[in-house]
Amino acid sequence: MPIRVAIVGVGNCAKSLVEGIGFYTQNPAESVGLMHPHIGRFLPSDITFVAAFDIDARKVGKPLHKAINAKPNKTMKIGSSLKYPTIVQRGPTYDSVIPQLREYFIYESKSPAIDLVKALQQSKVQIVVNYLPTGSDKATYAYAEAALNANCSFINCMPTPIAKDPKWRKRFEDKGLVLLGDDIKSQCGATIVNRALLHLLKIRGIKITKSDQTNYGGNADHFNLHYRPQAKEESKEHALKSSLTSTDAHPHARMIYTEKNYDHKQAKIKIEGKIWGKAPVSIDLTLEDEDSPNSAGVVVDAIRAIQKMTQSKKVKQAPEICAFLFKSPPKQYSDDRALERFNQIVQGRKGPF
Ligand SMILES: NC(=O)c1ccc[n+]([C@@H]2O[C@H](COP(=O)([O-])OP(=O)(O)OC[C@H]3O[C@@H](n4cnc5c(N)ncnc54)[C@H](O)[C@@H]3O)[C@@H](O)[C@H]2O)c1
Repeated sequence: MPIRVAIVGVGNCAKSLVEGIGFYTQNPAESVGLMHPHIGRFLPSDITFVAAFDIDARKVGKPLHKAINAKPNKTMKIGSSLKYPTIVQRGPTYDSVIPQLREYFIYESKSPAIDLVKALQQSKVQIVVNYLPTGSDKATYAYAEAALNANCSFINCMPTPIAKDPKWRKRFEDKGLVLLGDDIKSQCGATIVNRALLHLLKIRGIKITKSDQTNYGGNADHFNLHYRPQAKEESKEHALKSSLTSTDAHPHARMIYTEKNYDHKQAKIKIEGKIWGKAPVSIDLTLEDEDSPNSAGVVVDAIRAIQKMTQSKKVKQAPEICAFLFKSPPKQYSDDRALERFNQIVQGRKGPF
């Protein structure tokens, strides 16, 4: 039986996820780029998209496989998408659009918003993936509420604190559903690379005197983050701080919009510290990546992990697997420990590999 997924926000991350599922379905022997080719018995090809919601007139009313290519989506093409009968429906707007986004990145549809609960129930959705612009707190809570009322699990890919909130977690748990979040930790993005470097320095006895991360990007997400950076910067700093001790310098993360609509991202990481005899050491590193495929490579595991945990009645352990997949989980672990817990709970095996 396929895993029935709904997408909230048919932007660049959604395009990478949908095209990626097409790619791994059409190339079943391909395992490059997958953190877990199998999760339980589930393959990426077991995922199907049965509902999608957006508010942009260029996407609403179109089949999902066409809407992912509508402007302003700009991320690289992974392959041709599978053809879905799923039509993008007009969701409610709430606080998801700031005035600056209306200039190019979102042309709000004039159609009325649909009834979310009814739409999720009619499409027999099992899992809702939330890809709303960062800062859309009210909209995120509304979609999460609808997911609960329609008996769907929920993956929060952006920083609004929801999986981190014990009250929200309990509401999902009580219904036998899974809530995962918050804010996807990309497969090989600035956060995980920066965490690995800080961890390395700490296990080698180094005091960190400076930890700066500057992210340059030109997509719709970065444009939005130019005006609403706070939640993302806090989420990144939270992820980095957990690798440090209280005597280390506070880590700083910044988001810079590069004024080109493209998905290529550059992150500059600068760390300074003191080694033996307080002698100085410093690291300057540049990470270049495609932003949206980098997040899809993690969401594909989150979706299959939910299906596995629901079937094996392990929904109460959901908070523990968040540390592997998200920047701001309910509880932070080191990345090795997080993978170990993920594998124990979801894959039923010991050890990280
Ligand atoms: N590597 C990554 O790209 C990455 C990593 C971690 C987290 N995230 C987060 O994931 C989210 C999605 O990123 P993206 O690059 O796809 O952004 P995007 O701007 O390309 O896509 C957002 C989509 O949401 C739609 N939308 C806006 N308001 C809506 C509403 N009320 N209902 C339904 N749809 C609505 C927009 O029209 C757009 O299609 C962002 O919050 C981002 O910070 C991304």
